[in-house]
Amino acid sequence: MDIKTNMLCVRLLLLYATVISTIYCDGQLGSGMKFLTVMLAMAGRETLGVFSPNLFVGSKPLLFKGATMLSRAFTKWTDDYFWNLEESDNYQVGVERGKKENRSDLATTMSLKQFLKQYTSSDLYLVDPVPEFLRKDVQMPVPLQCKELADTLLEAFMWFSSGGTKSVLHFDTVDNINCVFSGTKEFLLIDPNEYSNKIEIDHPEGNYCGVDVDRVNYTTYPGLAEVKYHHVIVEAGDCLYMPFKWFHQVNSYGRNIAVNVWWNHYASIRMNLSCCGDPSSDAIRKTLDDFYFHGIQQLTNDLDIIKGMVTDLAQYRGVNTKEDFVNVYSKQFSEFLPLVKKMVNKIFKELDTNSDGILKMPELLVLSNERWKEAHKVFLEFEDIFYTLELQGELDDDQYEEWLYEDLYEKDVNILKDEL
Ligand SMILES: *[C@@H]1O[C@H](CO)[C@@H](O)[C@H](O)[C@H]1NC(C)=O
Ligand SMILES: *[C@@H]1O[C@H](CO)[C@@H](O)[C@H](O)[C@H]1NC(C)=O
Ligand SMILES: *[C@@H]1O[C@H](CO)[C@@H](O)[C@H](O)[C@H]1NC(C)=O
Repeated sequence: MDIKTNMLCVRLLLLYATVISTIYCDGQLGSGMKFLTVMLAMAGRETLGVFSPNLFVGSKPLLFKGATMLSRAFTKWTDDYFWNLEESDNYQVGVERGKKENRSDLATTMSLKQFLKQYTSSDLYLVDPVPEFLRKDVQMPVPLQCKELADTLLEAFMWFSSGGTKSVLHFDTVDNINCVFSGTKEFLLIDPNEYSNKIEIDHPEGNYCGVDVDRVNYTTYPGLAEVKYHHVIVEAGDCLYMPFKWFHQVNSYGRNIAVNVWWNHYASIRMNLSCCGDPSSDAIRKTLDDFYFHGIQQLTNDLDIIKGMVTDLAQYRGVNTKEDFVNVYSKQFSEFLPLVKKMVNKIFKELDTNSDGILKMPELLVLSNERWKEAHKVFLEFEDIFYTLELQGELDDDQYEEWLYEDLYEKDVNILKDEL
C-alpha cells in the first residue's frame, strides 16, 4: 500500500473506526466480527470496546462516534437541497406542533416545502417515516446490514426541527438506533433493569410517564428522586443505540435532523448472530432504500413478544424459577404481589412442561405455539388488570379479590391464601 492510501486509511479511521479499515485497509485492523470501535458513552462507565451485532442482544446503550459521517445526508441535507427536490412541492410530511412533546396534541400534514418555509420561525416538528426519495442519502448502520438483523427492520423515521424539542420520558418495546445529521441531541437514559419500579408509567397506552420534564414534581413522582440516569450527547455524525425498554428523554439543540431505525428486539434475540461474519465490501454504500422495512405495526405479533420476553429473561438475566419471575414482575407491580404470584403460577402451568418449577432454554425452545398462545393470554389478562388497578389509583377491594380468586379451585384458593 502506498503512502497516500495509508494516509487515507488513517484519516478515515479517525472518522469512522475499524469498519473502514476492514473495508479499505484490508487486513490492517480488525477482522472477524470487529465491525466498529465504539465508545460506551455512559456516565462513569466509559469503555472502549469492539462492536459486533451480538452487542445488540440484551445489552447497554452504545454511542458510535462519527458512525454516520459517510452518509450523504451528513453533508447534503441543507434546506436548499430539500427545497430544490422536485418532490418537495407535493410530498406530504407528518408534522407535530409544539417543541415540547404533548401526546394529546394531534399531528398534521403539510408539503415538505411548506414545512421548510415555516420551521425556523415556528414550533413545527417533522416526525415521519423517511421519505422514499431521501432514503438513498442515509447509510444503513453496518451492524444492521447483517442479513439476520436486516430481516427484523421495522421502520426508519426522520426527526426535523429548528431545535429546542423535548420529548416525554418513555420507553419503546423495540430496539432503536438514532443517527444525528444536523445539530445535537441530548439523551437521558435510565436502565429498566434497575429502575422500572421507580418510574411511574402513568400512560401505559403510550409507554410514557406524564411528568413535566421541565419541572419534575417529586411529590407526584417520588421514585424519580432515586433514579440514576446516564447523560449522552449525540453530535452530528454520531449514532446512539438504545436497547428496547430503556427509558429515555430526548432534547435537541440547533437546526436538528436525525434518522432512527427501529427493529424487532424479540425476533432478533432468537438469532444466531455469529453467522453475520464480516460486513460485505459494499456495506459502506448500502443505504436505507436497499432494505425492506416491515412497518412499526408489525410489532404486534403477539407470540414474538411473549417468546422474546421469557427467553430473554431465562437466557440472559438468570430469571428461571417461579421466585425469580415473581421478583421481576413485583418490581413493576409491587403493590399487587399476590396477583403477580398468581400470574406467574398460571404462566408456569403453560410453559413449565416438566413441572420442575424452572424455565430453561432447552425446554422453552421446543414449546409448541399453543403453549405460548395460552401463556400470552395470561400475560394480556394480567397486564389489563395491573394497568386498570394502577390507573384507578385506589384499590377497589372487592374487584381485587375477585381477580385474585376467580377461576381458581377452592384448593388453589387455600394454597394461595396460605402463601400470602
Ligand atoms: C397537552 O395538550 C392538551 C390538548 O391540547 C391540553 O389540554 C394539555 O393541557 C396539554 N398538556 C400540557 C402539559 O401542556
Ligand atoms: C406537585 O403535585 C402535588 C400533588 O399533585 C401538588 O399538590 C403540588 O401543588 C405540586 N407542586 C407543584 C410545585 O406544582
Ligand atoms: C451459531 O453459529 C455458529 C457458526 O455457524 C456455530 O458455530 C454455533 O454453534 C451457533 N450457535 C448456536 C447457539 O446455535
